[in-house]
Amino acid sequence: VGASASGRQQADDPAVVQVFVDKGVVDTQPDLLRAIDAYFDAHANLTSLATPPAIVPGGESVKNDPDALEAVLRRIDEARLCRRSYVLVIGGGAVLDIVGFAAATAHRGVRLVRLPSTTLSQADSGVGVKNGVNRFGKKNFLGVFAPPWAIVNDTDLLATLSDRDWRAGFSEAAKVALVKDRLFFRQIAERAAAIRERNMGIALPIVRQSAELHARHIVEGGDPFELTHARPLDFGHWAAHKLEAMTDYRLRHGEAVAIGIALDATCSALCGYLAWDVAAEICDVLGALGLPAYDEALNDTERLLDGLEEFREHLGGRLTVPLLRGIGESFDAHEIKAARVREAVERLVATCKVRQPQRAAS
Ligand SMILES: NC(=O)c1ccc[n+]([C@@H]2O[C@H](COP(=O)([O-])OP(=O)(O)OC[C@H]3O[C@@H](n4cnc5c(N)ncnc54)[C@H](O)[C@@H]3O)[C@@H](O)[C@H]2O)c1
Ligand SMILES: [Zn+2]
Repeated sequence: VGASASGRQQADDPAVVQVFVDKGVVDTQPDLLRAIDAYFDAHANLTSLATPPAIVPGGESVKNDPDALEAVLRRIDEARLCRRSYVLVIGGGAVLDIVGFAAATAHRGVRLVRLPSTTLSQADSGVGVKNGVNRFGKKNFLGVFAPPWAIVNDTDLLATLSDRDWRAGFSEAAKVALVKDRLFFRQIAERAAAIRERNMGIALPIVRQSAELHARHIVEGGDPFELTHARPLDFGHWAAHKLEAMTDYRLRHGEAVAIGIALDATCSALCGYLAWDVAAEICDVLGALGLPAYDEALNDTERLLDGLEEFREHLGGRLTVPLLRGIGESFDAHEIKAARVREAVERLVATCKVRQPQRAAS
């Protein structure tokens, strides 16, 4: 079929595809593997499976495990993929990141098709150009910018997501609304309860709008590979990445982003850029979405502050942290005083700790 006897693919051969699936999806959607086989059987004139789908453990721990990366690369090798072959990955942001990194580096780049299976990956990471894994206790220390060949947001995949992971994705929707689209933030605020309760008719258009805003920023923002300092989509992320590492990834990325948003909104108010009632409203909306604005790890503020320098190193050049002047209006701050962060943490501890949402078991 797709691959010739020598393992090399001819230009007019059917497309050879190696599928990788998040174990969390396989466990909750047992018919999926059969459906994949049936799909490739039905389209055998156009495409073929290189080897049976490979199952990849889901969640952040896979990005911390060098053996997991090796296993994905080994499967790409065993499947005899070439640069005209395709890696198709179905999964949450963590599995998309590790498989995307392997695909981008094997043979200097095998074509990648993503089917994101979480709200976060459909609303944000799946439509992006970044791939990577964690090393040395640092998020995404190893990684590449590599645009995928295609992305398919199939919302049916979301049905089996846990409530915790369902909610976590909406912090990225809130983030992109806060930095780019005031009206969108209003919609999220008004619909927060229905989103949290998984009302699909209301929640899915929010996921879609978030994906569109993220994709538009990459395509039209003029800096898809982040060569300049401006990175508005990293709002709330300097603290988020540090909090994930500080909690040994007990916090989901989306939960850590919610706390990072609350912290940077509070810093924006403390520095006099943002009205206090707006900062308070942002924390309220996160709470209404069922997202935390506080975690006990914040109390180790000195360690948290190391996150600012790590963020600068990761992005390169001058420290650039997006802050807010209003909803939908971000700007780049090049300095955040440690004293301001300490004060912001104290305020979050005082105000948000008491109304922290119940976190479901993972
Ligand atoms: N590359 C980027 O631009 C970018 C952007 C944002 C976030 N990220 C990364 O994405 C990751 C977070 O992704 P996430 O929020 O999707 O969480 P995740 O990938 O950690 O998945 C969370 C859990 O959900 C399970 N799961 C996935 N889909 C499921 C489904 N449909 N049904 C049942 N269970 C399912 C997984 O197995 C896992 O246990 C972080 O590593 C973050 O750094 C990357
Ligand atoms: Zn993020």
